[in-house]
Amino acid sequence: MVLGMPKAKARRLSTRAAIIVLLLLLIMMGHVWTPVGPAPVHAVHVLLRKLFILPIVLAAVWFGLRGAIIALVGCSLFYLPYVWLDWKGNVPENMNQYGEIVTFWITGVLAGAFVGREKAALRDVARTHEGALLALVNALDAREHDTQAHSLRVRSLSLRLGRALGLDSRRLRILSQGALLHDVGKIGIPDHILLKEGPLSSSEWDIMRKHPEFGQEILEAVPFLRQAAEIVATHHEKYDGTGYPRGLAGDQIPLGARIFAVVDVFDALTHERPYHEAVGFCEAKDTIRDSAGTHFDPQIAEAFLALDDSEIERVISENYLVSAQESLNVKR
Ligand SMILES: [Fe+2]
Repeated sequence: MVLGMPKAKARRLSTRAAIIVLLLLLIMMGHVWTPVGPAPVHAVHVLLRKLFILPIVLAAVWFGLRGAIIALVGCSLFYLPYVWLDWKGNVPENMNQYGEIVTFWITGVLAGAFVGREKAALRDVARTHEGALLALVNALDAREHDTQAHSLRVRSLSLRLGRALGLDSRRLRILSQGALLHDVGKIGIPDHILLKEGPLSSSEWDIMRKHPEFGQEILEAVPFLRQAAEIVATHHEKYDGTGYPRGLAGDQIPLGARIFAVVDVFDALTHERPYHEAVGFCEAKDTIRDSAGTHFDPQIAEAFLALDDSEIERVISENYLVSAQESLNVKR
């Protein structure tokens, strides 16, 4: 983390800043070294001057208004002395060049302002989506208590595992949604089954096993959750085909559901449930290891076991709540 910023994001921003600086330098050097003279060469000289707009607009898109202004100041600090030295005493040409700089500033400032507004609007949409997801989790939590903390922990662990497996931001976002809402279909399970303290009868189990499909139906009605519905529908499938509701096996099970399955079992084992005591960290990892190839995709189980222990412990050992920021950071 750099100043509270994830490493990957800091690296991306540094690369973008370097691209902008490099472009500004290349264009400046090209413009100065291309002589003013015969028409074809002069055309290149003028074209290079116009190209200043490229790093300025890139700065606006990548860094918003502040980035655009920094790029504009850098461009102006070079360009104004060049105008004064190279076109000394040529008032009409000076006016022409000043006009060029004004064009850069108007374009850069407008681009930066519009990009800033767009990003703010996207953040609002993301916050609205997050609120809708948490409302669904809360609705289930109101009936079956303690599901909210479990849902938030498995989302956080799923994201860590997904990143370790190299999932791109789109897949991470879907995984995050699916993990958070995996049991939302339990809303459709009657109280006398969902809240029953003793073991379920076989007919009650038949009903309980329908919750992945109930969840899928709920999420498929929401356009931005349609892809997450696939994870919800298959979160109880097992790698060897003995899971439910469809008995899918291996790669037939969506990748997100295979990732989630490992995390879900690990979290369930390490927390007390009505039907079992919490087991220790090492014992839970042994269970994951033993079930690789049967319950779990072996490659995913291996990736989970390779995660940093202190990171996993931090998530499971406290009443860990993922800040809204984490899911918002899973960029579109
Ligand atoms: Fe479930």
